[in-house]
Amino acid sequence: MTFRSKLRSLALAGTALMIAGLAAGTATAKEAGGPIADEAVRARADALIARMTPEEKAGQNTQYFDFLNAPAESKRVTDEMAAARAGSLLFVTDPAELDRLQHIAVEKTRLKIPLLFGFDVIHGLRTIMPVPIAMAASFDPKVAEAGQTVAAAEARAIGLHWAFSPMVDIARDPRWGRMIEGAGEDPYLGAAMAAAQVRGFQGPYLGSPGHIIAGPKHFAGYGAALGGRDYDEVNLSDNELWNVYLPPFNAAIDAGAGNIMSAYMGLNGVPATGNRWLLTDVLRKQWGFKGFVVTDAAAAHDLMTHGFAADNQDAGVRALSAGVDMEMAPPFGASAFKTLPDSLAAGRITTEQLDNAVRNVLEAKIRMGLFERPYVDLKAAKRVLDDPAHRVVSRQAAEKSFVLLRNEGNLLPLNKAAVKSIAVIGPLADSARDTVGPWVFDQDNKETVTVLAGIKAKAGTGVRVEYAAGTSMPARVNKSIFEEVIKDPTPVIQVDDSAELERAVALAKASDVAVLVLGEAQIMIGENASRSSLDLPGKQQALLEAVMATGKPVVLLLMSARPLDLKAAKPQALLDIWYPGTQGGAAVANVLFGDAAPGGKLPYTWPRNIGQVPLTYAHLTSHQPEKAEQRYWNEANSPLYPFGYGLSYSTFAFSNLKIAKASVVPGEAVAVSVDVRNTGARKADDVAQLYIHQRHGSSARPVRQLKGFERVTLEPGETRTVQFTLRPDDLSYWTAAAGKVVQDETTFDVFVGDDSTASLTGSFDVRK
Ligand code: BGC
Repeated sequence: MTFRSKLRSLALAGTALMIAGLAAGTATAKEAGGPIADEAVRARADALIARMTPEEKAGQNTQYFDFLNAPAESKRVTDEMAAARAGSLLFVTDPAELDRLQHIAVEKTRLKIPLLFGFDVIHGLRTIMPVPIAMAASFDPKVAEAGQTVAAAEARAIGLHWAFSPMVDIARDPRWGRMIEGAGEDPYLGAAMAAAQVRGFQGPYLGSPGHIIAGPKHFAGYGAALGGRDYDEVNLSDNELWNVYLPPFNAAIDAGAGNIMSAYMGLNGVPATGNRWLLTDVLRKQWGFKGFVVTDAAAAHDLMTHGFAADNQDAGVRALSAGVDMEMAPPFGASAFKTLPDSLAAGRITTEQLDNAVRNVLEAKIRMGLFERPYVDLKAAKRVLDDPAHRVVSRQAAEKSFVLLRNEGNLLPLNKAAVKSIAVIGPLADSARDTVGPWVFDQDNKETVTVLAGIKAKAGTGVRVEYAAGTSMPARVNKSIFEEVIKDPTPVIQVDDSAELERAVALAKASDVAVLVLGEAQIMIGENASRSSLDLPGKQQALLEAVMATGKPVVLLLMSARPLDLKAAKPQALLDIWYPGTQGGAAVANVLFGDAAPGGKLPYTWPRNIGQVPLTYAHLTSHQPEKAEQRYWNEANSPLYPFGYGLSYSTFAFSNLKIAKASVVPGEAVAVSVDVRNTGARKADDVAQLYIHQRHGSSARPVRQLKGFERVTLEPGETRTVQFTLRPDDLSYWTAAAGKVVQDETTFDVFVGDDSTASLTGSFDVRK
């Protein structure tokens, strides 16, 4: 076995470590030299800074959009870059073009400083992984790490150096479309997924071969946009910021993220991009962040739009003074950072401030090895993009991400011997573009396996598989930026709705089982895709009910990344498949026919209807908790499905909860263990989840908080003892009563099970 084929077979086994090995396998020996020492990096950056004019410095701190589909704009960008007035570009993904631009920067500019190419590598480049919320639903950080390792390898191979990812914003309001990009509502799960993705993107150190810089975003609070309306203001208490919204960022920084992106919106009245408290006091002073800060697109210039900065020059001064190092995508002719040399001359900023920002950017270029290896190896790029092992990682990630919400009478897995005909129905069932989800631009739609294609391939010749779209997918009322600016056209399914519904019903009647694929088209979720409703768009609800009325067994596959309101419709089986990526249909088919078993869990609380949002499991106890179910007079207050919920093809029992000590002192860790037994007849996965509740203290604390989880695969009858450690950090929190993090003397309840309603319980004390 050759080294490379060995790496590939290891990758086929699908673990993160193995994928890291695969990526490393694409590197040359020279690249594999290990990290460059901090002092050497700094000395090299300072030597360059000493030779730079203020204009060249401002150039290094400027990043332009280059969409390439607008030739005039592209020429302007190239001119700026050739004149050393831009140090970074985003949105170029043609390897030959990246290489051409880099040659100009390195060969034609005075100081020969290479460009840093960034891109939204959110869930894959060519091989598309399931969307980030889906990877979070795996409750397995190895899945996210392996996925982003592949994404990094492909991105680096084509000449990209930096991902604007992971998105680590907590999202508790499903009206906000960007919920899809993060890990959902919980800070503990969010922190674990944030760190895993940073490891995947960056590898063991910044500059690792086959890896790129991770840029956690959007710092901070973006997920709490008022009314779930994208870009709108955010008003968060210190309590929520410190205990809920900041921990995933802190975890990403601790994992070594080389970059961070400041958010668009105002946080408690101060725009995040001009927020010195956030970008300097918290990020650099308190957390020790050593990388560079980029704004979100045009967000420095936007300081003016917010009614915060007086004019564009003031915007540049205030963004830089807050702690921004690079301005992303300023409008042409209105770059805020281009005014920095004037501000320096006028004494509004100091040379030291400007140099610090330039140094942060140059150090990233040095660590990434761009001065030694600026160019793209086009042949190697093709090889990496075509690597079949990457598709395997994507399929396995999808299989691990699906969440089974209903399975009456064990309809799933389908009985291959009994099912001889399948009606596949729904406008999303055969849409390659929707299968891969939003925030992808370099996927191969022809290669993408739709649900219909996956089922057909798996069912084989003995089973009749027929398709009806069933209904149209409506267009958005307001166009998306991805249709308007970025030109990512989604084919809209247009059919004669009533004729098509009849056709679908007839097909269901003539088949042994109906598999419906319904949900939101990918253009309806993501950035600029907030919604004031959780209903199935268009006439999909009527289609669902009409097919259910046939009395045939119905499997509903939901393609969505926010909880949808099915109006109490109860299909026999309900599987959330998210937007499952390049191999989505193959993964779905494996799960439908039982070659893989679902074990994902909900990373958010699923409300009964939109009137309940925002709804989180981690709420506080308040007046009359015994009547909490009656907070609304018209219906129950509890969710339809709780956080952490998901069924399996098997059953599991939790027992033997052991808390190592009845009492610990502050600062001491607590060991907890529990036995998980597979009580069913199939090998399957479950996720052991540990929640705590602090009974009393400096602040009132949530009724439950996730503080540990582990996904386990168990054979029928097998028992595994899962060990958790509650560290002092897990038992501490920020309290408004003291304005700082405290650990109280108190009593903790512990709950262990496989969702946030877990009932196996114990307790321990913390006493001095
Ligand atoms: C988004 C960012 C993204 C950037 C560049 C912005 O509109 O908010 O998440 O990284 O565009 O595409």
